[in-house]
Order: sequence, then C-alpha cells, then structure tokens
Amino acid sequence: MIVLGIETSCDETGIALYDTDRGLLGQALHSQIAMHERYGGVVPELASRDHIQRVLPLTRQVLDEAGLTLAQVDAIGFTEGPGLAGALLVGASVANAIAFALDKPTIGIHHLEGHLLSPLLSADPPPFPFVALLVSGGHTQLMRVDGVGRYALLGDTLDDAAGEAFDKSAKLLGLGYPGGPAIARLAAAGRPDAIALPRPMLRSGDLDFSFSGLKTAVSTRVRAGLDGEQDRADLAWALQAAIVDVLVAKSRAALEQTGLTRLVVAGGVSANQRLREALTGARPAIRVYFPEPALCTDNGAMIAFAAALRLQAAREAGQPLPPAPDVFGVRPRWPLEQLAAV
Ligand code: KG4
Ligand code: ZN
Repeated sequence: MIVLGIETSCDETGIALYDTDRGLLGQALHSQIAMHERYGGVVPELASRDHIQRVLPLTRQVLDEAGLTLAQVDAIGFTEGPGLAGALLVGASVANAIAFALDKPTIGIHHLEGHLLSPLLSADPPPFPFVALLVSGGHTQLMRVDGVGRYALLGDTLDDAAGEAFDKSAKLLGLGYPGGPAIARLAAAGRPDAIALPRPMLRSGDLDFSFSGLKTAVSTRVRAGLDGEQDRADLAWALQAAIVDVLVAKSRAALEQTGLTRLVVAGGVSANQRLREALTGARPAIRVYFPEPALCTDNGAMIAFAAALRLQAAREAGQPLPPAPDVFGVRPRWPLEQLAAV
C-alpha cells in the first residue's frame, strides 16, 4: 500500500510517499523560516498562503522522483491537528480534494503521533513499549507508549514548552527564528556555569514541566545588561544547560516510574546536540532512540508513515479502507491521549 503524506500544521510544507512494503519512497520539504524570520516568529496568515503555493508542486516533485503517478497512491494521510487552523486547512483541503477526485481514502493524522512514531522510520527502530519525550515548539510531554495509538500521558508542561523557551529567549537575545538552533550555536562559545539560571520543577516530585520562569530569568538577565558577545554566549549556554538538565532528569524519572528501559526523543528540540549527549551518557541499562536528523523537525515522512501504520493495522484487523471523503475538518487543538488504539 502506497500512502501520500501531507504536513502543513505550522511553517513547513512536508510531502512524502511511504510504501508498506518498500518503506519511504521519497519526500520533499519547504521551510518557511526565511519568510517568517523578519517577524521573529510564525505569522499564521502568511504560513497558510505559502502552503497553498507549495503543496501541489511538492507533491508532483515527490511523485516524479519516485516514478509514480497519483493514480498509484492507495491512500492519503494529512495532518489534521494540532496546529495553526488556516495552515492545517490547506493540507486537509488538498488531501481530501485529491482523494475525492481519485476515489481514494484519506486519514487525518495527529501531528504529535507523527513525531512520536518517527524514530520507527530509522534503521534500528525501538520496539514497544517505550517512554517518549516529545519536545516541539508547542509541546513538552512525557508519554508511555505501548503501541500505535496507545499513549498514556505521564507529564506535561504547565506553561511554555521547551522549544518555546528556546524561541522566546532567542528573541530576547536578538537572535533569529527558530530560536533553538540559534541558541545552540551561540552556546557553543559560552563558558560553563558563568551564569546561573534556575532548573524549574526539577524537584517537584512529578513528571510535569514549567519553562516560563526560565524565560523570565533570561529576560531579567538581559535587562540587567549583557556586556558583549561573551556574556550573550554565557547566557545561551546557561539556558540550554537548564532546559537540558530538566528534560534529562524528568525523562529518567519517567523511566524509573514505569520500569521501562527505552526512551524515544522526538520533536524539533530532539535535534539539540547537547540534549542528545546528556541523554545518552552514563546509563548503559537505558537505550535512547532519536529520529534521523532530517526527521526531527516537521516533515511529511512522519505523517505518511503514521497514516500507513494506521491503515495497515485496520486492514490486518479485517476492516476495509474507509471510502473517499465527502466531508473533512481539522482540529487545531487535539489532545494526543484522545487517539484510538489500533
Ligand atoms: O517539532 P517542530 O519542528 O515544530 C513543532 O511541531 O513545534 O519543533 C520546533 C521547535 C522550535 O521551538 C525550535 O526552536 C526547536 O524545535 N528546535 C531546537 C533545535 N532545532 C529545532 N531546539 C533546540 N536545539 C535545536 N537544535
Ligand atoms: Zn512538529
């Protein structure tokens, strides 16, 4: 079964083809970062308009490169939520229009499920069950994952997400968008422990997070006056260290609480090198899995893959593929735990 995946939830148009027999057949991505950069963040209306211009040319490109036609696609997966309503509607409209015209089924995919399952696309995929640390621009969650759609929330952020702390602090430091990679680059020149920042909720005794205080601490330090590039780099180092320390401590606590020995880290912040090093060091009994570097941030491959897994499971359970759609919608807010197991 060949599945076309369409991701348009935020500032990346991602298109991919996944074959349940042969794996990933191809993918293409257009990032809107250059367009949003001058505004210091994503402008939703601009995002939607750009997705409109990109979805079909990228789809054509991926099909051409794979030597396939739309008629050979068996089903279409699209990101139904969570995300920006207008941006989601572009992907949903195109997916459902193509499907209706060609009489193929569609399946709406939860963006975070895409992230969560993306490490399964690597050469050495993690077996279920595992603990997942989901760290994206809008979410910071620890989940227990027992299978596709079998997700139990262990911990969540009470305010800002880790990616948001990177992005907002980068803005305070006058760095570009997205903030995570910019902070990481600046931190490379920072001196360890030259500036002290808090580790919010480190000892809260639960698996929840809070990062808005960290952003406030960065803001206070910036307002107190930074003396040159070294000070800025020291602050970037301190911020990255504080975020990484909290993420590592809570992930380890989640492993202890569940008794599981596999940790999957996914979402944009999983690209952070320091987080990777800190999570993989020193605990031989724990195995940590990351998505391939190109699949850490938003992409179409994870959506095509999640759609293929769900459709294949339905088929194996003897359920026919759903009919071509005549109605569709999007879910800008959509809790992951509401998903049905397969
Ligand atoms: O998963 P993603 O691409 O989009 C969402 O679903 O939100 O995650 C984007 C987030 C942004 O906050 C960005 O600053 C962060 O991931 N990010 C990073 C790095 N690369 C991206 N944060 C820290 N270090 C990185 N290398
Ligand atoms: Zn994402």
